[in-house]
Amino acid sequence: MNGYIGWLGPAHNWVLAAHVTFVIFWMAGLFLLPRFYVYHQEAAVGSPDDRAWIEREARVRSIILTPAMIAVWVLGLMLAFDIGAWTQGWFHAKLALVIGLSAYQGWLGAYGKKLANGQRPLSSKAVRAINEIPGIAAALIVVLVIVRPF
Ligand code: HEM
Repeated sequence: MNGYIGWLGPAHNWVLAAHVTFVIFWMAGLFLLPRFYVYHQEAAVGSPDDRAWIEREARVRSIILTPAMIAVWVLGLMLAFDIGAWTQGWFHAKLALVIGLSAYQGWLGAYGKKLANGQRPLSSKAVRAINEIPGIAAALIVVLVIVRPF
């Protein structure tokens, strides 16, 4: 959206549009999966319900979360090199938050495996509380990249 012409040239805005589109898919997956965990936790271990949730969660991870996260990173890094974002403070803060979100996705994957093994390590209340993380991070990231306060 800025007049900067880097190596992407006129393709910059197409890459930016794709970046924001995959951000939406990634956030959708990050909001959806913990909701599934909350309901899954209430299913009896080994029950048909338990097996159904294991299947659904695996599909959210493999069809939505992982591909979307990879696309956001690849397109985001293309934009970063295009505008020379590496020297800009807002981008450093954004990158730190996005690395945090990626680590959170890693934790979600590990927690899903525990649920699939019949464990229920956290209370549903705790899982619901943890589900606030991506929302807060996304709001901070959007402010950083659009307002660029520093
Ligand atoms: C994964 C690592 C990411 C990198 C390397 C990255 C990098 C970038 C860069 C360099 C821009 C600026 C492009 C420009 O000035 O035209 C940008 C734009 C944007 N990014 Fe990311 N981003 C990443 C992840 C995210 C995430 C997770 C979100 C939201 C939760 C996000 C939301 C946005 C938005 C809304 C814009 C458009 C800003 C505008 O056009 O004013 N990005 N991204």
